Amino acid sequence: MSTLATVVQSLDNLDPMLPDIVALGPRHAGYNVKASDYGPVGEAMLWALEACLRGSWTPEVESAWKAAYATLAKVMIDAAGTLEAKRV
Ligand code: HEM
Repeated sequence: MSTLATVVQSLDNLDPMLPDIVALGPRHAGYNVKASDYGPVGEAMLWALEACLRGSWTPEVESAWKAAYATLAKVMIDAAGTLEAKRV
């Protein structure tokens, strides 16, 4: 969650965070996380956030979190896939 919060605050300038996010991908592959797990986990995270932030949950907040999660998930999945490809 704190990684995502940092991303939400840096959506306009993700470059400094990219190396850390790329490294998360292969680590998650090591936790046995598959690309197909990212969708359900993202939905659960949004559901929990909406419940926690009820008063301040706006369409803008929702789309910022969705964008942050989608960006992170894509970078992580791509990085994990690159590692898999190198192993073959
Ligand atoms: C944008 C998506 C995600 C982010 C930003 C994220 C972030 C993190 C971070 C920062 C850690 C701490 C350990 C580390 O740095 O390697 C972690 C651990 C972990 N994550 Fe994620 N994660 C994401 C998606 C997922 C998904 C889809 C799963 C699938 C269930 C998952 C399962 C795990 C597991 C099993 C651990 C290890 C927990 C432990 O052994 O203590 N994560 N994640």
